[in-house]
Amino acid sequence: MALFGKTKTDAEISDLILPRHVGIIMDGNGRWAKKRGLPRKAGHTEGARTFRKITRYCSEIGIQYLTVYAFSTENWRRPEDEVGALMKLFKSYLEEAISDFKDDDIVVRFIGDKNGFSPELRALMEENEACSRDRTGMVLNIAMNYGSRDEIVRAVKSIAADVRDGKLSDADITERLVSDRLYTAGQPDPDLIIRPSGEYRISNFMLWQSAYTEFVIMNKLWPDFRKSDLDEALRIYSQRNRRYGGV
Ligand code: IPE
Ligand code: IPE
Ligand code: MG
Repeated sequence: MALFGKTKTDAEISDLILPRHVGIIMDGNGRWAKKRGLPRKAGHTEGARTFRKITRYCSEIGIQYLTVYAFSTENWRRPEDEVGALMKLFKSYLEEAISDFKDDDIVVRFIGDKNGFSPELRALMEENEACSRDRTGMVLNIAMNYGSRDEIVRAVKSIAADVRDGKLSDADITERLVSDRLYTAGQPDPDLIIRPSGEYRISNFMLWQSAYTEFVIMNKLWPDFRKSDLDEALRIYSQRNRRYGGV
């Protein structure tokens, strides 16, 4: 694996082999709030702060792709007031995001089904994508109303439609073709997925893309996650021996 280090600022991590694509399951907001006797939405507000800080840091140290899991296709099952608070938070965040990541040259993309959101939120998501499209820095995928099973079903349907219309034959159906029909088409698979909050599960995140991804589970709730925790995950990653089924 190549060394990526666009603007290596930290002496300690500058020597590491950095992942090209990092995924983060931003989990533990609710427990963070509960521990403090606060409503769950207070945890989400704090989690959004962590998200900004860690995203900027990833861009500074030269990560090329960052995918953050912000809201799953299953998260609609939560109580109405929590979902409502999250939608409000997304809206206020997206209104600021256009300028927020401008200086960092970050390209913002949304992965997931935008149709699940209000027209207002959808418009903000599209505006963010359009405004940042021509930037050249880190690509930030924000997974919202994202579920990897749903993503795979969509890919299968789009391939089936092309076969039906005679645009593709059975022989054209390859791993590459499937990858190219996912939300992450054209992007490298994640090298490292970090899950804070100590849960040992994938919760419907990047199932196809993570076939050979390294996982780092951390016992920190997302709102407590610091740059030093990211450094630690990068250090653990750099010591892993990736074999891809070989020896
Ligand atoms: C992650 O934190 C944020 C979302 C899923 C939207 P949680 O809200 O899942 O926090 P815990 O896991 O209940 O602590
Ligand atoms: C995964 O966290 C989804 C996000 C972080 C957005 P969940 O809290 O929804 O996952 P489970 O329910 O613990 O598996
Ligand atoms: Mg959770």
